[in-house]
Amino acid sequence: MRYITFALAKGRLARKAMEILEETGITCEEMKDEKTRKLIFVNEELKFRFFLAKASDVPTYVEYGAADIGIVGRDTLLEEGRKLYEVYDLGIGKCKMCVCGPESAKSLLNGHELIRVASKYPNIAKDYFYNVKHQTVEIIKLNGSVELAPIVGLSEVIVDIVETGATLRENGLQVLEEVCDLSARMVVNQVSMKMESGRISDIIDKLRTRGGKEIK
Ligand code: PRP
Repeated sequence: MRYITFALAKGRLARKAMEILEETGITCEEMKDEKTRKLIFVNEELKFRFFLAKASDVPTYVEYGAADIGIVGRDTLLEEGRKLYEVYDLGIGKCKMCVCGPESAKSLLNGHELIRVASKYPNIAKDYFYNVKHQTVEIIKLNGSVELAPIVGLSEVIVDIVETGATLRENGLQVLEEVCDLSARMVVNQVSMKMESGRISDIIDKLRTRGGKEIK
């Protein structure tokens, strides 16, 4: 029997995902050592292999088949646009992708203004403004602390993740429009889904019985 390989977005999401997988009997003792700097972990008995990757790389590993299964946020999946099957909503890491800015920027979202939009998610921002709102905008890619952009005059608005809203509030910004709901998803390589359909369907079935949502 060959290994089924999982790529997990490292950090809090990977830890929570492993707790959920554990409920279905998919365990990995060596991953529980919080001090370890290892990136790859194995459960020899069950023939599962797990590796921790940067979130934005998880869809790439899965599309190319270096991992059979990935667990990553929907934000990353939408931004990366890889060819994969999205099979299960783990219901963790729930938040929203939003257009945010100062209240005064609300009137600039009417579809006619050529505004600047800063985001860590240029593809999501572009899709929303061009295909949903039909507003021509200039997208500026940033890598973090995006809330700074409208404060220091780099852009009029941002497209970013809002979880508690604290970062916005503490910086005098607010949600102007909601783009979409986000949460952690399980994705599967398209070939693995056929070649290992028995073992992978079994994992999805077990997850489904614990609740959460299967994505058809
Ligand atoms: C994320 C996001 C917001 C913040 C939202 O940033 O980009 O800045 O969390 O959370 P809140 O609504 O609960 O305040 P992250 O912590 O990943 O840092 P980064 O922006 O530097 O990437």
